[in-house]
Amino acid sequence: MRVYFDNAATTAMDDRVIEAMLPYMKLHYGNPSSVHSHGRQVRSAIEKARKKVAELLNAAPSEIFFTSGGTEADNTAIVCGIETYGIKHAITSPIEHHAVLHTLEECAKKGKIKLSLLDVNPKGEVDLQQLEALLQANPNSFVSLMHANNEIGNINDIETIGELAKTYGAFFHSDTVQTMGHYAHDLKNLPIDSLVAGGHKFHGPKGSGFLYVKKDKKIHPFIHGGAQERNMRGGTENVIGIIGIAKALELAYEDMDGHRKHIESLKSRFIELLKENIPGIEFNGKSADLKKSLYTVLNVSLPPSEENRGMLLFNLDLHGISASGGSACSSGATVGSHVLRALGHDPERESVRFSFSRFNTAEEVDYTVEKLKELYTVNV
Ligand SMILES: Cc1ncc(COP(=O)(O)O)c(C=O)c1O
Repeated sequence: MRVYFDNAATTAMDDRVIEAMLPYMKLHYGNPSSVHSHGRQVRSAIEKARKKVAELLNAAPSEIFFTSGGTEADNTAIVCGIETYGIKHAITSPIEHHAVLHTLEECAKKGKIKLSLLDVNPKGEVDLQQLEALLQANPNSFVSLMHANNEIGNINDIETIGELAKTYGAFFHSDTVQTMGHYAHDLKNLPIDSLVAGGHKFHGPKGSGFLYVKKDKKIHPFIHGGAQERNMRGGTENVIGIIGIAKALELAYEDMDGHRKHIESLKSRFIELLKENIPGIEFNGKSADLKKSLYTVLNVSLPPSEENRGMLLFNLDLHGISASGGSACSSGATVGSHVLRALGHDPERESVRFSFSRFNTAEEVDYTVEKLKELYTVNV
């Protein structure tokens, strides 16, 4: 059996997304900036995709900018939000994705901003009182706090954070890469200035994404060049990526509740079976709390075991199970997770992130627990 439980890293593309993209590879190859009919046909498809994304998120089409993914969208919002508004102080947390953390650290290194990191407790909760105190002390700050954490699944209350930011006149950006397509976002009513998406996290193509920027918080472009994306992102558009991400989002919204119920049932089955079968199992962050964590992520901390030390992901892979030890972008590398480190996680314990999609099954959960049990019964 081959099991894919690394959906927070990337997801399999939905066949219907591929079908929607194919004509733009085979037939409609015009450059959307060309004024002839080949170009106009493709331009119209891009604008239709933008309208669809905007409709689903209750935003205006003029607030959506297509990018190459979540990383570029985060970089754009952060670097250009800070520049446009002459911001000198930014606030984030040590458990953000590197797309946010490294970008802000770079801004600080260049002397553009002073960077404040919020405290996080061992459960991965950020200190919102500290956030308020920092906002009070530093008017015109930039706040970047993610909606849901990609490693431990903790969900931040972005409404409360957004209201706080608004009260103290801060720019609020949220990395929503892990919730886009899995939770409904109502952007007209959410106090948020910018957020981002990566299409490959919800069965769309890799290298596709978008940035949302609220109408009244316009920012400068990040990539200069042609007038594409209304002068916000130079470069010929990734047409197939744009068609693909819009279709993937449409499909995600078509049956979001159904997908959620299915995935939640897999996650709670997984938690129960692990508790029954692996003595000493723990769960990192709040990932075992179905109400307070991303339903697609379960981060498991296993008891110390000499045989599995540093080898657990490899051992799972030998049994056909693909999971990861932290963020996708650093899985494969031997560096530990900065998120688990910030939570003070015991390095003697192996951690595995299992992340699910609507394509997973209960049989896959049962098989994985059975294999984990074998690994831990034989080896402990
Ligand atoms: C929370 C979060 N932000 C940003 C990214 C980067 O997105 P992309 O791969 O689309 O550049 C990821 C991808 O793992 C993520 O999980």
